[in-house]
Amino acid sequence: MTQTLNIDILTIFPEIFQSPLEHGIIRRAKQAGIVTITPHNLRDFTHDKHHVVDDRPFGGGEGMVLKPEPIFRALEFLTHKSEPENSSIILLTPQGRTFTQSLAVDLSRLKQIVLICGRYEGIDERVNQVFSTDEVSIGDYVISGGEFAALVIVDAVVRLLPNALGCKDSTANESFSSGLLDCPVYTRPAIYRGLEVPEVLQNGNHREIAQWRRRKALEKTLLKRPDLLDKAPLRKEDLDLISKIKENS
Ligand code: ADE
Repeated sequence: MTQTLNIDILTIFPEIFQSPLEHGIIRRAKQAGIVTITPHNLRDFTHDKHHVVDDRPFGGGEGMVLKPEPIFRALEFLTHKSEPENSSIILLTPQGRTFTQSLAVDLSRLKQIVLICGRYEGIDERVNQVFSTDEVSIGDYVISGGEFAALVIVDAVVRLLPNALGCKDSTANESFSSGLLDCPVYTRPAIYRGLEVPEVLQNGNHREIAQWRRRKALEKTLLKRPDLLDKAPLRKEDLDLISKIKENS
């Protein structure tokens, strides 16, 4: 039996998650019981009449900070049965470590992920102290809150779950899994507006096609993301090809 990943999302805007989780791979994965994704309204964990979730920062300064009490209550409720070694509590914040494919792979092996969507100026630091949250950013830019960052993480993780994609090998050759960017792809017609699909892709020689694809992936990575080549697992033939590409350009 396949394991189910439970994703809980803590947010003051649960409505944001309605439509994005109802399409394609995520929808199918939910229907197949591979994943559950549950947005929780942080205001449901307040005890005051006005469901207040934020307050001014101690020491003065701009903006509002998310209060500790609703987040503590929510996390206690969501994690009281969790196995710490199989779960992760992640705070989405631009101050976090950058989200990568390798982190997505690690998360896809867990049983529970709790995503806390930060808002305003941040959340009370005592949440991090007590729940040892992993702070994660989706990139070096600031968006209005963690909700869209949470959606990015959910999508990247769910598609890696066993049986989430139709074909078993679908994620193996894509960008970042191999450490390189993808090679260019073509479909019919073979000639469109005078532009022809490379001959090698039409000749059916699988060895030549694999070589061409590897060379194009290396070329593209060298041109657009040379930083990736430092970490990519490269063979001797790859290094020779890179030298040739550099000579030619
Ligand atoms: N909240 C605001 N900006 C963010 C970012 N870049 N990543 C994650 N959460 C955020």
